[in-house]
Amino acid sequence: MANTAFRAPRGTRDLLPEDLVLVRHLERTARAVAQAAGYQEVRPPLFEETRLFTRSLGDASDVVEKEMFTVPPRAEGSPAYSFRPEGTVGAVRAYVEGGHPARAPFQKWFYVGPMFRYERPQKGRERQFTQFGIEAFGSPSPLLDAEVVEVACRFFEALGFGAELEVRVNTMGDPEDRDAWRAVLKEFFADKLDGRCEDCRARYERNVFRLLDCKQPGCIKSNAGAPGIRSVLGAGSAQHHASFMAAVAALGRSVCEDESIVRGLDYYGRTVFEVHYPPLGARSALCGGGRYDGLVAEVGGPATPAVGFAIGFSATEIALAELGLPDPAALADLRATLTPQVFVVAVDDADRLEALRLAAELRSAGIAVALDFRSKSTKAQFKEADRSGAAFVLVLGSDERAAGQVVVRDMAARGEEALAREGLAAALGVRLGAAAGAQAARGA
Ligand code: HAM
Repeated sequence: MANTAFRAPRGTRDLLPEDLVLVRHLERTARAVAQAAGYQEVRPPLFEETRLFTRSLGDASDVVEKEMFTVPPRAEGSPAYSFRPEGTVGAVRAYVEGGHPARAPFQKWFYVGPMFRYERPQKGRERQFTQFGIEAFGSPSPLLDAEVVEVACRFFEALGFGAELEVRVNTMGDPEDRDAWRAVLKEFFADKLDGRCEDCRARYERNVFRLLDCKQPGCIKSNAGAPGIRSVLGAGSAQHHASFMAAVAALGRSVCEDESIVRGLDYYGRTVFEVHYPPLGARSALCGGGRYDGLVAEVGGPATPAVGFAIGFSATEIALAELGLPDPAALADLRATLTPQVFVVAVDDADRLEALRLAAELRSAGIAVALDFRSKSTKAQFKEADRSGAAFVLVLGSDERAAGQVVVRDMAARGEEALAREGLAAALGVRLGAAAGAQAARGA
């Protein structure tokens, strides 16, 4: 590592050209999968008023309690802002502000972009990370919940994942179910708090459900025998859950019911789910989501049912790497963008201006062209051309200039030919097409 005075902030990463090959593949897979299911892209701002998050995510959630990146008010009476720790709340705010509830309440949206949480950086946990999320507004149907789970599964499948991933589902019931469940859980845990971690003791009063997903081994043990929400589920939410399970089964997705899935954010009711890659241990969730029928009203709109998920790229990238995915062929076109198709060598300094012009001309015909800008000798330019991986090297020298020609060297076939300067872009285009075909045939 270079000895510089500055480092990227803790918990952030520089994504350099090589790193972006995989990220760009994740992004385009997300777009393709979402669009195929009728979800349209939205881009709300990266920061919102802090009170939007505190009100919506729950002030006992980790995210609000300790993980917000907040910019304090700049002047008396102006608001505090926070970088978005997740995408749902901003999407809901945009949905309400855009007037959709009255105009076109059924909306299917997706987003891909950075989120910010002031977490302790560790494997798969960063302070700036990317999420791909979808949010569907305006339908209470359990079939929509099943579609949302299906879209998450499709994304992972399109990346090459198979049975390594586990889809865990649960229900958080309706508000009255949660009231009843809260009461029985409090009673259950009342005499067990001494053996629990500090977080659990603090959460007992404010959000007792979170005791169920505590990752401390001692706490996991003391959860044995805790009553699940099923014991208090009302008829409406029980029916919803049964229909959701039937729809998921009809889609051929195998999911497991897991009563410890309670989610870390407060806005959920009815269906909740997570997709896990178990080898990652305590932090094995690649995706979390569920139904949040109360949130639109919480943010100031009319009561509007909604459901969605978010997939974290960091954990997904780790799981992919462990499994040797994706297939390199799936990345070949993105990797190819790191390499020029053509390198122009100027033999004499007098040829440099013409090299620049030729490069511009070929680029406007859609060909990716590189050339030297560091006054390298002809020999060094050829070396650089070789290293660049360009399929063709074009040589401009005084003889060629006089003859109105350019020498074209095919780097794979090691052959040379002189082509007319006039109409060169078209002639090269044909050769590049043939070279790409030959490369594909070799399986490169
Ligand atoms: P979440 O469970 O907080 O849900 O986050 C979803 C995923 O984002 C996690 O499973 C994890 O992979 C990733 N993630 C979260 N925090 C970090 C971090 N600090 N570093 C790296 N990755 C992280 C939500 O965010 C909800 N908005 C999901 C949702 C959408 N529910 C309904 N619609």
